[in-house]
Amino acid sequence: MSNIAALACALPKAELHLHIEGTLEPELAFRLAERHGVKLAWPNVEALRAAYDFSDLQSFLDLYYAGASVLLTETDFYDLTWAYLEHAHADNLRHVEIFFDPQTHTERGVAFGDVIGGIRRAMLQAEREWGISFRIIMSFLRHLSEADALATLEEAKPFLHRIDGIGLDSSEMGHPPSKFTRVFALCRELGLPVVAHAGEEGPPAYIEEALDILQVTRIDHGVRAIESEALMARLAQEQTPLTVCPLSNVKLKVYQDMREHKLREMLARGLKVTINSDDPAYFGGYVNDNFVACVGALGLTAQEVVKLARNSIEASWLDSARRDVLLAEIDDVYRDWRGE
Ligand code: HPA
Ligand code: ZN
Repeated sequence: MSNIAALACALPKAELHLHIEGTLEPELAFRLAERHGVKLAWPNVEALRAAYDFSDLQSFLDLYYAGASVLLTETDFYDLTWAYLEHAHADNLRHVEIFFDPQTHTERGVAFGDVIGGIRRAMLQAEREWGISFRIIMSFLRHLSEADALATLEEAKPFLHRIDGIGLDSSEMGHPPSKFTRVFALCRELGLPVVAHAGEEGPPAYIEEALDILQVTRIDHGVRAIESEALMARLAQEQTPLTVCPLSNVKLKVYQDMREHKLREMLARGLKVTINSDDPAYFGGYVNDNFVACVGALGLTAQEVVKLARNSIEASWLDSARRDVLLAEIDDVYRDWRGE
């Protein structure tokens, strides 16, 4: 591994764009299927992994929703989240803000409380054992109706003290942010910060809608901003964080090759870019794998890698005291790496 890739791996970081359902590795999927006597559509782990060959976002989502069918109990959600947190710890993540999609589970009859209960139990354990702080973001599925999202918000009411923010994910094209105007306004009135996937496959106008209509504090993905000079200037001016997911973008053919990724150009244009794993079980790696791939393909410098790590802390919802602690830890690791 290059020196700079080693620095990237060693740096304390936060992950801000992670779907907990997207951390389901094939081995765990088969273990859970066996636990519940459920049959998966693939004969074994190898066959399932071989199916991870996507042409676009929708081809991935079809498999991702099929995989989630083995998640049934509080313990399943605990096991899933704990397995992710072991990777987070190994990658020197000090803070994670994770999405969960309640509609994927409640539609199948899984209790809302079991989903969030299992996720939270693992998070609290990682906080105790490893000092990893966390936030939990409830995401609405944009291929479903706004009425569905409103019903989900109602269902979430007894658990709102466990929910730190709201997101919007799933099939982007044809489902613009403006479809969710009313439900996002209600969430903001409840005091919840909101984010939305925008500009992954969708056009720059979807990013503008997320900013202007949904009033998001961050944009998830946002890579298609590069197509609009006016939007690039605005994002740089307002320092709106973008949670970019490089391996995801290549796996879902937003770019044909990592060398085509615009992340470095976006950084150079002054955008507040972060690196995240999105659905690491499906896209070939966790946060450090994403950093290593970008260092290799784009030739990121040590300063750029440090900037990305700092951005991940600054773009988080942490209070300023803990942010300062984590930023100081980044400075320490960088100083050590330089041999000072
Ligand atoms: N985009 C949209 N929806 C998703 C994604 C994504 O990258 N991952 C999981 N759900
Ligand atoms: Zn995502």
